[in-house]
Amino acid sequence: MTRHDEIRQSYKELGEFGNVYDGIITRSTLLGKLLDSLIWGLDRERSARWIEDALAPVPADFSGSLLEVPVGTGVLTMPLYASLPKADVTCLDYSADMMENAKKRAAAMKLSNIAFVQGDVGALPFADESFDLVLSLNGFHAFPDKDAAFRETCRVLKRGGVFCGCFYIAGRFPRTDWFVKHMYVPKGFFTPPFETAESLEARLRGLYAKVDVHTVRAEGIFKCVK
Ligand SMILES: C[S@@+](CC[C@H](N)C(=O)[O-])C[C@H]1O[C@@H](n2cnc3c(N)ncnc32)[C@H](O)[C@@H]1O
Repeated sequence: MTRHDEIRQSYKELGEFGNVYDGIITRSTLLGKLLDSLIWGLDRERSARWIEDALAPVPADFSGSLLEVPVGTGVLTMPLYASLPKADVTCLDYSADMMENAKKRAAAMKLSNIAFVQGDVGALPFADESFDLVLSLNGFHAFPDKDAAFRETCRVLKRGGVFCGCFYIAGRFPRTDWFVKHMYVPKGFFTPPFETAESLEARLRGLYAKVDVHTVRAEGIFKCVK
């Protein structure tokens, strides 16, 4: 089994329990609160901050083309898209099972401006400079080929467009590093090598004209302009 297959299998299983994942990522269940505190060292205020910071670069009246990769269950972004009826949104994920949750959520919210595409961030099925904004939440720590993922997300973004999001950053919070190494990597949810805040900033500066990186505990949040 290749690492690609292992990751797909792990997220297939997680996708079948989409509501458990949603409770964890949004801190809305007891399990979510426990894992947020224990593994990520986040209280309610910090937990809300990383999500707000990661989504802040999306303008409130955005009406251009937006690619979200990976969309996962869509729990963090479907409410945002509900407030952007003029945006042309494309959501991509490797895992049909994770994305099925996002599709159901979009249908329940009657969102008609979203296209769902199953695919690999390392080989995006879009032409160069197709999108005004590329959003990536909690994906880069999971992607098996980081170089290809950074290259592809940049390739499909228009000049002057914004690339923003967040993911796990190593070396910021020892407890998180321990759990990532001993739990998330063996389970296939995260795949090394991981960026530090410094290596991420250096990598993004090699691709983008303007770069801003900051962290909330072990969550790295970035905004770049191409
Ligand atoms: C932790 S989830 C994040 C989902 C969502 N963005 C969120 O923040 O809740 C990671 C997602 O990355 C997807 N993924 C992993 N490798 C991928 C790849 N090579 N291409 C596209 N998606 C991938 C998984 O299927 C999974 O849905």
